Amino acid sequence: MKVLLIAGARPNFMKIAPMVRAINKHNSMSGTEPVDQLIVHTGQHYDYEMSRIFFQDLGLPEPDIHLAVGSGTHAEQTGRAMIELEKVFFETAPDLVLVAGDVNSTLAGALAAVKLQIPVGHIEAGLRSFDRHMPEEINRLLTDAVSDYLFTPSLDADKNLINEGISSNKIFLVGNIMIDSLLFNISKADNRTALSELGLDKDGYGLLTLHRPENVDSEKSMREIISALSEISRNTPIVFPCHPRTAKNIERFELNHRFSVREGLTNICGNGNRINIIPPLGYLDFLQLMMNSRFILTDSGGIQEESTALNIPCFTLRDSTERPVTITEGTNTLVGIDAGKIVTEVNKVMEGKVKNGKIPDLWDGRTAERILEIIINQHIYTSIYNPEDVEQL
Ligand code: UD1
Repeated sequence: MKVLLIAGARPNFMKIAPMVRAINKHNSMSGTEPVDQLIVHTGQHYDYEMSRIFFQDLGLPEPDIHLAVGSGTHAEQTGRAMIELEKVFFETAPDLVLVAGDVNSTLAGALAAVKLQIPVGHIEAGLRSFDRHMPEEINRLLTDAVSDYLFTPSLDADKNLINEGISSNKIFLVGNIMIDSLLFNISKADNRTALSELGLDKDGYGLLTLHRPENVDSEKSMREIISALSEISRNTPIVFPCHPRTAKNIERFELNHRFSVREGLTNICGNGNRINIIPPLGYLDFLQLMMNSRFILTDSGGIQEESTALNIPCFTLRDSTERPVTITEGTNTLVGIDAGKIVTEVNKVMEGKVKNGKIPDLWDGRTAERILEIIINQHIYTSIYNPEDVEQL
């Protein structure tokens, strides 16, 4: 059996690394039918700190195929990825294509594969923010609609898929694969030097990430968020590994003076309690900063989950989340971008009023193994196209 794994953007890499490890482990066991795996990187993210450092940190082998589709509009990026991926599918004839998450490369891989009648597995299926303004929501809906295996992280995702009329035969509750990566790497992250290089103490700072187009492409939204951050940073330093999209907009809206911009990991103490912009971090350094932070402010999807797994208070700068379990069970709170609300919620944490969370079921580090077992044992990739089944419909 030949499995082709597609990754393209930063949040994909920690979702495919556990699959690669699970397949290698399976292949090393005697008496098993080996699974061939090919890693294809679409090149949606291409900067060292958005891509390559993740391969190094996560111990991923070099991609077998790199497509360099790069940046562009949604149609340009998705279209280029589809065109290039289709050529790869013709050349390599995989039995199964695995895509992960909700980025443009995820949709491109699923669409190009299904049109060639290659079965598709979607890792992290069924998540819904119910906000179709988000490009990721469109990617999720369409990828799930054409996938044959829907690997879900939590029960809410199963319910969403059933409500959309997707057959329960295709839905597999396997848990959260990002947490496989987190648990596997936590001790390595603990040994990193980012925290000390930045001069930070455990629980002595807030960690910020910001990159959603709805937040960072609008000057009004950026100014509202910054006013909250400025207020918070009067008492608690904020560390802000800055995404390239956000960095470009800070420049464009002439907001640089509201931040302290650092070239690398230099000591930020003695710098006044400012909003300290540092370059995007690799997986292990970022994990170390998450583990040791007092609170996290973010508009990312994955960080809502990672903070829940680490039991760190997380404030999500959005009005909706596709990951409701991080609110109902975890440490996450939706605060939108209202400056007053953000400051009030952070102050509560600083006063010790912390929401207690629990780790959701199946976020146990074994998700990739479960996915592999299903792929190997179910063989729905042959039965799903059984013409007799279709006639009976
Ligand atoms: C993409 C995903 C988003 C994910 C995010 C994580 C889609 C629709 N969005 O958003 O779901 O949360 O990645 O980072 O797929 N850029 C660089 N260097 C890079 C990559 C991008 O400078 O290595 C610049 C691009 O030129 C562009 C901007 O960053 O100006 C946005 O990149 P893009 O991949 O289009 O979307 P993201 O905002 O990163």
